[in-house]
Amino acid sequence: MKDVMVLTGAGQIGMAIARRMGYGMKIVIGDKRLENAQAVAKILNDAGFDAVAIQMDLSSRDSIKNLIGEAQRYGEITMLVNAAGVSPSQAPVETILKVDLYGTAVLLEEVGKVIGEGGVGVTISSQSGHRMPALTAQEDELLACTPAEELLALEMLQPRNIRDTLHAYQMAKRCNEKRVMWEAVRWGERRARLNSISPGIVVPPLAIDEFNGPRGDFYKNMFAKCPAGRPGTADEIANVAELLMSDRGAFITGADFLIDGGATASYFYGPLKPEI
Ligand SMILES: NC(=O)c1ccc[n+]([C@@H]2O[C@H](COP(=O)([O-])OP(=O)(O)OC[C@H]3O[C@@H](n4cnc5c(N)ncnc54)[C@H](O)[C@@H]3O)[C@@H](O)[C@H]2O)c1
Repeated sequence: MKDVMVLTGAGQIGMAIARRMGYGMKIVIGDKRLENAQAVAKILNDAGFDAVAIQMDLSSRDSIKNLIGEAQRYGEITMLVNAAGVSPSQAPVETILKVDLYGTAVLLEEVGKVIGEGGVGVTISSQSGHRMPALTAQEDELLACTPAEELLALEMLQPRNIRDTLHAYQMAKRCNEKRVMWEAVRWGERRARLNSISPGIVVPPLAIDEFNGPRGDFYKNMFAKCPAGRPGTADEIANVAELLMSDRGAFITGADFLIDGGATASYFYGPLKPEI
């Protein structure tokens, strides 16, 4: 038996974190597209890791429980990396809310029931959660604490209150950050830690869909006007994950880390500030 890392979402960000933290572990990779999970498992196995691919759907509690059950066959789950998700140009509002908002909440809840003592988790949120105007304290609390099965019935998430797919994505990512705070308390009862990372634009396929989608010019402008002057790489996201998931991050839990090359800073107080 080995310690097990559960990785959901076989994209570049998930793979970069698995490569950084998954050595010596069994890495169980769940993805809706089995071929994505298999491709990442092959790259990892060819590099000396021990990975296995499983088909799963983050928007289904049964599928999440099945993934956890499969993972536990190899040993105790001591790491969670949630890098599964859909972006605003990839899916309709309903799917974004079901996968990114509801699915993430369920995954954090279900893994939190079984995570090993001293275990660690990260979930990938987004700078988008930092971009929208502040919600009220009550709205934030509803996103944090509403039972997962009731989340999608919240008034603020009904179609009449969601403008477009970007707004749905922003709400989902804001919910991820709040949910991590709420779940970190429960994870702490098992002496486990949980944090979220909010990346700016990094260049795996999800971002390429965004460049070529209806918001392509918006993103090119963002790179030109953000302090870093470029998009990020998945390995830079793994730098933050390494801090959060290693013993050096032992005092960090229930927190969100924005890593966006300064794009959000520029959006609020610099040249990326929207003209009103
Ligand atoms: N790439 C970026 O610029 C960027 C920026 C900020 C946040 N993020 C977030 O990072 C996470 C990973 O993004 P990425 O860029 O590596 O994307 P990616 O598209 O490379 O990988 C995402 C993976 O999630 C899988 N997936 C989609 N729906 C699923 C579902 N219902 N169940 C299981 N798997 C599912 C996809 O098949 C894909 O393999 C996402 O949550 C995304 O919102 C990405």
